[in-house]
Amino acid sequence: MILVTGASGALGRLVTEHLAEVPGLTVVAGTRDPGAWNGPQVEVRAVDFDDPATLPGAFGGVTTLVFISAGFAEDDVVYARHKAVVDAATAAGVRNVVYTSLTGTADRLSIAVAHRYTERVLAEAPVATTILRNGLYAELVAGMLAAPALATGRLPGPIRDGRVPAVVRADLAEAAANVAADIERGSTVHNGRVYELEGPEELGLDDITALLAEAGRPGVEDGGSLADLREAGAAAPGYQTGHTVSIFAVVAGGLITRGDSDLPELLGRKPTPVREHVGQVLAHLASAAG
Ligand SMILES: NC(=O)c1ccc[n+]([C@@H]2O[C@H](COP(=O)([O-])OP(=O)(O)OC[C@H]3O[C@@H](n4cnc5c(N)ncnc54)[C@H](OP(=O)(O)O)[C@@H]3O)[C@@H](O)[C@H]2O)c1
Repeated sequence: MILVTGASGALGRLVTEHLAEVPGLTVVAGTRDPGAWNGPQVEVRAVDFDDPATLPGAFGGVTTLVFISAGFAEDDVVYARHKAVVDAATAAGVRNVVYTSLTGTADRLSIAVAHRYTERVLAEAPVATTILRNGLYAELVAGMLAAPALATGRLPGPIRDGRVPAVVRADLAEAAANVAADIERGSTVHNGRVYELEGPEELGLDDITALLAEAGRPGVEDGGSLADLREAGAAAPGYQTGHTVSIFAVVAGGLITRGDSDLPELLGRKPTPVREHVGQVLAHLASAAG
């Protein structure tokens, strides 16, 4: 039995949809609000990492856990959440944990910290693990970096001559489902593996401004200072603004580059082109905005 956590989230839902299509697998959707589930017709169980009492019952009978990170909080909160998951999975006798982490080339980003903590906790746990080190979502590049510029004509923060390696989230979901299905069917090739799942391209300021021009916003300028970016995020939760500033600081410093990727191997095909995908997202946003 495979249980996917965060099954109502964008990544978890896609993983669950893929797994539900695989003949012969028993798939369970784990989500904080089972009553709101509107995904494929699979068993649904309550899974709330902030309420560890939900976890022993949810993990009962599970052989492979697809553990989707729940990172939108301060690191100490994420540490507690993720430790609770590993402890409960171990206690429940889950045999394999497939954890969605962050690519090694993004190590300088502040969002990497909670992922590396979780990888350490998993390495020390008596359970077979597979780490899927996901690259930065193309959807993140489109939503956080380019979309605000559609409205304002300026990126929200500076990227200078830096480039952002990105990967389409649906590819990451398909890779996670492939790995979990292999494991559940008895394969041991993924045990102990750490897969780096980067997309096929990096996007720089020239690419992003060209895509924005194609979406109807020509002449977009690079963002201003990191101080301005931090100030603009003053109303958002502190951790969120901190992570946003960290992403722009690292990109603008040219401190993140695309590395080798195991994604083609796990997909059995070429990954989806990123530039095209971001262009489609921006075109959609532009038409929705009228
Ligand atoms: N690589 C990247 O570029 C990148 C970017 C952003 C985020 N991430 C990480 O990747 C994860 C999945 O991304 P996504 O796009 O699917 O994000 P998303 O659409 O925001 O979904 C996140 C899901 O996490 C689950 N979650 C949140 N708090 C939880 C808790 N206390 N206990 C259990 N589950 C909880 C929820 O699932 P339910 O609603 O089903 O409970 C939520 O829908 C994120 O949570 C984050 O850690 C990666």
